[in-house]
Amino acid sequence: MTSVPRFANYDQLSRCAIVEMTEQCPYFLMITTKYYFITGTSRGIGKAIAEQLLESEDCCITGIGRTCTITRSQYSHITMDLSDISEVNDFRFPEIEEASEIILINNSGTTGAVRYSGRSSSEEIAQAFNVNLLSVAVMINAFLATYSNRNIPLRILNISSGAAKNPIDGWSSYCASKAGLDMLSRTIAEELKISKMDHVRIFSIAPGIVDTAMQDEIRQSNVRDFSRIQQFVEYKNTDQLASPVLTARLLLSILESPEKYTETVFSVRDLK
Ligand SMILES: NC(=O)c1ccc[n+]([C@@H]2O[C@H](COP(=O)([O-])OP(=O)(O)OC[C@H]3O[C@@H](n4cnc5c(N)ncnc54)[C@H](OP(=O)(O)O)[C@@H]3O)[C@@H](O)[C@H]2O)c1
Repeated sequence: MTSVPRFANYDQLSRCAIVEMTEQCPYFLMITTKYYFITGTSRGIGKAIAEQLLESEDCCITGIGRTCTITRSQYSHITMDLSDISEVNDFRFPEIEEASEIILINNSGTTGAVRYSGRSSSEEIAQAFNVNLLSVAVMINAFLATYSNRNIPLRILNISSGAAKNPIDGWSSYCASKAGLDMLSRTIAEELKISKMDHVRIFSIAPGIVDTAMQDEIRQSNVRDFSRIQQFVEYKNTDQLASPVLTARLLLSILESPEKYTETVFSVRDLK
């Protein structure tokens, strides 16, 4: 039997069913639903993650981003521009009365304008940092403030990049904001350890080079703004890009068994 969950002040999610009564134990309510908040579900890796999760009935997803491209009963969307920090500040995580686990996946990302420093606008720089780093810090803070006293597993997965560790010309805002994301994650992991909050795990994971619109956009730049453009064109031409579906599967496998991973920051390439 499934029933509609009770949410406080959060009508948008009222379609999600969260309580299952097992056939074996008819008087025992087993709560199996995992709640996911995922940014950037309109396309690419975020959409692949959401679609894979939606293959199972025991999850409920709130997607967050400027565009909604998923229409499923277990899926709700909150329209938000993460480059606008006032919008992010106004967001409130809902009270969820019953859940087996609550997960925040900060996937939204942008390379921003691929251009050398000295040739970007202040607005372009601010937008990239807001989407890739500042909004994530605000979301994690709100997530922990809302749920950290709950006695259930809480997971935070930040989608980082190899660019966090390697300077790439034309990508200064992207590299710096992803490096900041890794350090944000490591620092929060340290805080969780000191506070003995063993039920919370945070990861910052580089997904590898994935065949998404972001890679399309990178290939649209020019050699004056990005000296390695031909190498990225070659990645595509020689089929070296990972599929979003496979990448989503690897990322979700980490959330399935977080105890297997002692590090906070790593790459899906380390899993192979
Ligand atoms: N593809 C790669 O090779 C690669 C490599 C390393 C890391 N990554 C990381 O992987 C993550 C997903 O990237 P992707 O490759 O799947 O890129 P993508 O296909 O371009 O998708 C980016 C997602 O981010 C969302 N987003 C962008 N700007 C936003 C904003 N202002 N507000 C809210 N959401 C915004 C977009 O949603 P809306 O447009 O609907 O808002 C979209 O769903 C990113 O964090 C990226 O940095 C990707």
